Amino acid sequence: MVGGGEGAFIGAVHRMAARLDDRWTLVAGAFSSDPERSRAFGLGLGLDPDRSYGDFAEMARAEAARPDGIDAVAIVTPNAAHFAPARAFLEAGVAVICDKPLTTGPAEAKALSDLVARTGLPFVLTHNYSGYPMVRHARDLVARGVLGPIRVVQAEYAQDWLARDLPGNRQADWRGDPDKAGPGGALGDIATHAFHLAAFVTGETPSAVSAETSRFVAGRRLDDDVQARLRWAGGARGQLWASQVAIGASNGLRLRVIGADAALDWSQEEPDYLRFARLGEAPQVLRRGGPGLSPAAEGATRLPAGHPEGYLEGFAQIYADAADLLLAHRAGQAPPDRLSGLPGVREGVEGVAFITAAVRSAAADGAWISLSEEAA
Ligand SMILES: NC(=O)c1ccc[n+]([C@@H]2O[C@H](COP(=O)([O-])OP(=O)(O)OC[C@H]3O[C@@H](n4cnc5c(N)ncnc54)[C@H](O)[C@@H]3O)[C@@H](O)[C@H]2O)c1
Repeated sequence: MVGGGEGAFIGAVHRMAARLDDRWTLVAGAFSSDPERSRAFGLGLGLDPDRSYGDFAEMARAEAARPDGIDAVAIVTPNAAHFAPARAFLEAGVAVICDKPLTTGPAEAKALSDLVARTGLPFVLTHNYSGYPMVRHARDLVARGVLGPIRVVQAEYAQDWLARDLPGNRQADWRGDPDKAGPGGALGDIATHAFHLAAFVTGETPSAVSAETSRFVAGRRLDDDVQARLRWAGGARGQLWASQVAIGASNGLRLRVIGADAALDWSQEEPDYLRFARLGEAPQVLRRGGPGLSPAAEGATRLPAGHPEGYLEGFAQIYADAADLLLAHRAGQAPPDRLSGLPGVREGVEGVAFITAAVRSAAADGAWISLSEEAA
């Protein structure tokens, strides 16, 4: 692991998720930009002193040289500190599991994409919401044409934790600093998740965006609210709202997809349920672990219906899939079909293109910006 030291948020989640299915063991890490703290944190986790590193460059070199070196690295640093370790580990021949957004700009995203292409190494981006069984079922319904041609996509991610200034809050501090977060605030932090979810479920990445961003809290340097419209080449139209000033909301990620024949509606805070309606029929609430679900949903399910699953299991699914991807790679085989939607470097490039395009659009009073141009 790189990042995820004392008091960090997502590193601890990655450690739990990685181990949930007994597919991964944490054996090495560089957990902080401060070498002493980094080593001390590794020792505190019970790691071998030789593998509690002072920094990621030392870790990449040393692990690549060990006969029992790591199989993959998890990168869980602030956004601007994804690129350098991702490049270092890929160059050392190590597979990468990286948190989003991939990088803080398109040039670095492309450089990583090229490096993944050149090395052929597995690269997984932890858009963890795509690990939920009912999200996988939603994707399957769209892919099988059950919804008919997609007409409307509404995605939102609402939080309220940044509705006021939070001086001294570590997570808030770097998220408000363009040097560490990149050009997007809520845009990079949570709109990217809604964007990826919309692309994952519809099976198609939006082609263009028109955005308005706001900084509602005085003194804030990056956006805390995003209102965007999206176009899909296939004809679908959508809106994406991401806000960190939405009082009363915690992690209100929601996606509605409406086709010509049927529609679905999923909310992250009730992830075991998927609302599904066919035109002219009574709406249904499909339930994780219940009857009538796709193999994609069943394969991502751990517990019987009625024993709730949630954030950690969804995250763990990405790790379990990453293990399968790595094993296929080691065996010289193509990844199994069921891993085709697993977010990787391509989705990372698309997410960065979305951020870049939305920033440009917002600066041009909501002008439509093509996403393929941004990714090029
Ligand atoms: N997938 C998700 O649901 C999700 C949720 C939260 C955060 N994230 C992403 O995870 C990343 C981290 O977010 P967070 O909230 O955990 O941040 P955080 O500030 O809580 O933790 C970051 C950690 O990285 C360490 N770090 C910084 N620079 C380092 C370096 N050069 N080498 C080693 N360690 C270094 C810090 O010491 C800290 O321990 C961000 O990119 C964020 O977008 C993803």
